[in-house]
Amino acid sequence: MAERGDLTGKVAMVTGAGAGIGRAVSLRLAERGAVPAALDIREEAAAGTAAAVAAIGGKALAVQCDVTNYASVTAAVNRVVSELGAPDILVNNAGIDIVRMFVDTDEALWRKLVDVNYIGFLAVTHATAPHMIAKKSGLIINIGSDAGRIGNPGDAVYCGTKAAVMATSKALAREFARYNIRVNCVAPGPIGDTEMGDVLYGEGLGDKIARMIPLKRLGTAEDVADVVGFFASEDAAYLTGQVLSVDGGLTMIS
Ligand SMILES: NC(=O)c1ccc[n+]([C@@H]2O[C@H](COP(=O)([O-])OP(=O)(O)OC[C@H]3O[C@@H](n4cnc5c(N)ncnc54)[C@H](O)[C@@H]3O)[C@@H](O)[C@H]2O)c1
Repeated sequence: MAERGDLTGKVAMVTGAGAGIGRAVSLRLAERGAVPAALDIREEAAAGTAAAVAAIGGKALAVQCDVTNYASVTAAVNRVVSELGAPDILVNNAGIDIVRMFVDTDEALWRKLVDVNYIGFLAVTHATAPHMIAKKSGLIINIGSDAGRIGNPGDAVYCGTKAAVMATSKALAREFARYNIRVNCVAPGPIGDTEMGDVLYGEGLGDKIARMIPLKRLGTAEDVADVVGFFASEDAAYLTGQVLSVDGGLTMIS
């Protein structure tokens, strides 16, 4: 009998897979038998993730892809489909954050954040969904953020992009249910051990934040990968349109 959570042979496309949460997710899905397609704007970072998957005995495909460029996205999806097959799982993880008080931001900054975090998510989902619809099955797991649920000072536009990802995920969960495609979101709280976390929680800020978290530590990329693994498994078969915080109890949104 297959083990619960077994993903043998599933094609799992992960964006922003070259570092942090995306790399941890790619490894977690590969440990369960999936074949990750590691998409990242940085080719060498994507290749590093594919090598890390190979090092644990898995198979992965590294694909250079800028999620803000629709032509780059369709080329990446076409390559995944022709080399691995239609994706069974899509993890929309690519994202950036630029912390600045709102009055100090400008239109270029707003557009950059919206482009990567929201338009990028739309583009990858739009290019991938027809392949899932054609086979009437799929799982889409989007990395939102608790910041988009509660708001953070210095992060107004980022919060908006993440709230948009989570709201669109719910609408898509309703649209795609008829095709047996589930759409869920993971909303991480502060995750320390990533490139983004290095920038956001450096210089002792991480320790201060950890003291406010009921479980008294920052999250890790592995913590997020565990929950993505859950959403990717049959244990989550009756869940769609959900947002689950992974934050050590920081927000406890009901
Ligand atoms: N670190 C945190 O505290 C935290 C908290 C909540 C949510 N998140 C979200 O989790 C996701 C991953 O965050 P992380 O901490 O691992 O970040 P990270 O910076 O460590 O990794 C992000 C990856 O995305 C890639 N990327 C950036 N722009 C891209 C583009 N245009 N096209 C393709 N790839 C691109 C980067 O090259 C990088 O490899 C993001 O969506 C982030 O907003 C992070």
